[in-house]
Amino acid sequence: MYNYQLHQQITESLQQNELDIAGKDNLFYTRFVANTSAISSLYNELYGHHAKSKEIFSSLIETISNGYKKRPDVLKSSDEEKEIQGHWFLSNEITGMSLYVDRFCGNIKNMESKLDYFKKLGVNFLHLMPIFESPQGESDGGYAVSDFRKVDERFGKLEDLIHLQKKMSNEKMYLMLDIVLNHTSHRHEWAEKAKQGDKKYQDYFYMFDDRSIPDQMERTMPEIFPESSPGNFTYVEECKKWVMTVFHNYQWDLNYSNPVVFIEMLDTILFYANLGVDILRIDAPAFIWKQLGTGCQNLPQAHLILRLIKQCVQVATPGMALLGEAIVAPKEIMKYFGTGLYTAKECDFAYNATQMALQWDALATGDTRVMLAAQHEILQKPFGTSWITYTRCHDDIGLGYDDYMIEQTGYNPYEHRKFLKNYYSGVQEDSPARGALFSVNPKTQDARISGSLASLCGLEKALQENNETDIDLSVRKILLMQAQSFFIGGLPMIFYGDELGYTNDYSYLQDAGKSYDNRWMHRPVIDWQKNKKVDVEETLEQRIFSSTQKLISIRKKLEVVADHKNLNWLTPHNIHIAGYLRSSADKKLYCLFNFSNEAAYLTWFAFKEHGAAPKKLYDHWQDKYYDVGYNHEFLIIEPYSFCLLEPQ
Ligand code: GLC
Repeated sequence: MYNYQLHQQITESLQQNELDIAGKDNLFYTRFVANTSAISSLYNELYGHHAKSKEIFSSLIETISNGYKKRPDVLKSSDEEKEIQGHWFLSNEITGMSLYVDRFCGNIKNMESKLDYFKKLGVNFLHLMPIFESPQGESDGGYAVSDFRKVDERFGKLEDLIHLQKKMSNEKMYLMLDIVLNHTSHRHEWAEKAKQGDKKYQDYFYMFDDRSIPDQMERTMPEIFPESSPGNFTYVEECKKWVMTVFHNYQWDLNYSNPVVFIEMLDTILFYANLGVDILRIDAPAFIWKQLGTGCQNLPQAHLILRLIKQCVQVATPGMALLGEAIVAPKEIMKYFGTGLYTAKECDFAYNATQMALQWDALATGDTRVMLAAQHEILQKPFGTSWITYTRCHDDIGLGYDDYMIEQTGYNPYEHRKFLKNYYSGVQEDSPARGALFSVNPKTQDARISGSLASLCGLEKALQENNETDIDLSVRKILLMQAQSFFIGGLPMIFYGDELGYTNDYSYLQDAGKSYDNRWMHRPVIDWQKNKKVDVEETLEQRIFSSTQKLISIRKKLEVVADHKNLNWLTPHNIHIAGYLRSSADKKLYCLFNFSNEAAYLTWFAFKEHGAAPKKLYDHWQDKYYDVGYNHEFLIIEPYSFCLLEPQ
């Protein structure tokens, strides 16, 4: 609701900051006034009780207006263009790739010469995995940041990043970076000061004199890395205190019940926005609020913080969308898009982690029923928000969907997950997959799965055995997995190396800073000699690359694939086939995926259940036409194959 006092406060603050609220900064001023009451009520809900609440609220206003003031003009214009376009990020023309700059091409400068490679593939959105300063050997792949504003020397300098962003933007490419919100490295200046006894900075973290509270909290907090980093607290010799470390012992959890921490991190978020970040990946948002007696994940206050961030970004740097990396239970993931009054006003994106894991489920069993049992949940995503869709990323695959989804299919959840773990870790003798279990919890036997897309799809084994039939099957599986995630709605994010079938890289075992974490097996070092083969006819690299390229270009042509909440699942006439329909007022696309190792038959009736029945269908994937037959006749889909059928 409109609040006169707040309006005055904003006006005065912006005027003091020499902003031209009646002239060139008027749009910003308007956005600010429009969002102020939301900002203030979210802030008060979180921090209203704090002794310095009022004072810190003023510095929040200051931070927002400084964020805007420092925004380069070119980004301000791009903000306006994006606003005019509206929901720019839902477009079917954006395809992403996530990569480690050093492992991909050495450093940020070299990235510039790789832009043609992305263009050739059709990728126009890059997620650069963390590049800010992080101690070697205690880095968690860059997710233990010791300086949020300094690019790590290994990658180059901040100027290199700025230069790259400009070049990308000129080439109409988008950029995503991470904000590691939940924790800092124990080498961060704040942590160092806390170790030296500085009370101000000790309050930036959760620090305790003895084990009494940590012990109570441990009772309800799950462990994230039970093998390599058991427990949630670490003893700090220097200050003789226990500090909360939910992830690795070198990652100290920030204390967001302290509003000063919020302001510091918001300032960094706006700093990243002003580097030209188009989508900001908020790392591990599920963890940002802790409370005794809870699991310290997905708490309501974590959502308040994200909403507050969203409102502030919306005012200062509206062209930057937010991705919440919440890899949690299906129902919980949905909440990161916002609920109630804040529906579609929290994170613009979340990872479709449920769907990703379910694709792996279907690939192992050849049965798509568990995948279907989960869709009513996934389909709750609000209009105007979107998924990052993917088959692999730098992390492990968690089988975090609900037991009831498995039970509905008639499987026993415990046995079913055990089967999947054995299948993908290669423990099961006849399994073609070559992965490994990650973070096995000895108490619960919970585990996740590591391994590259190609190795999990059987390519590593098939190549070792030089088995042409199996090589062919594994390539089909790779493309089936990619295709399903490309067309389901959302922004597809390819993990680097998967575009040409990199298998697991075991060199991490020789590096003491990595050997304790088998996620490194699927984070390849790119060999550009191998990558050159994408141009050599009849190589495996060429086959996978050109097929991926084709999928991307089909996607770019079909506007109906843009994520406008226009997805319907087809009736499961055949349990081996997952089929969905993407539709707009005048277009339709039937996407059908056969997860079994045998040809699957689908009654033509499947095409007659959604409005006017088409007579002819064109398969964009195989460049082939089909006449829609009688209901007792069938469309036949080859093993691990798919069709992208548009009614003619
Ligand atoms: C996120 C990252 C993961 C990292 C963790 C802790 O989940 O994706 O790689 O280990 O956060 O920062």
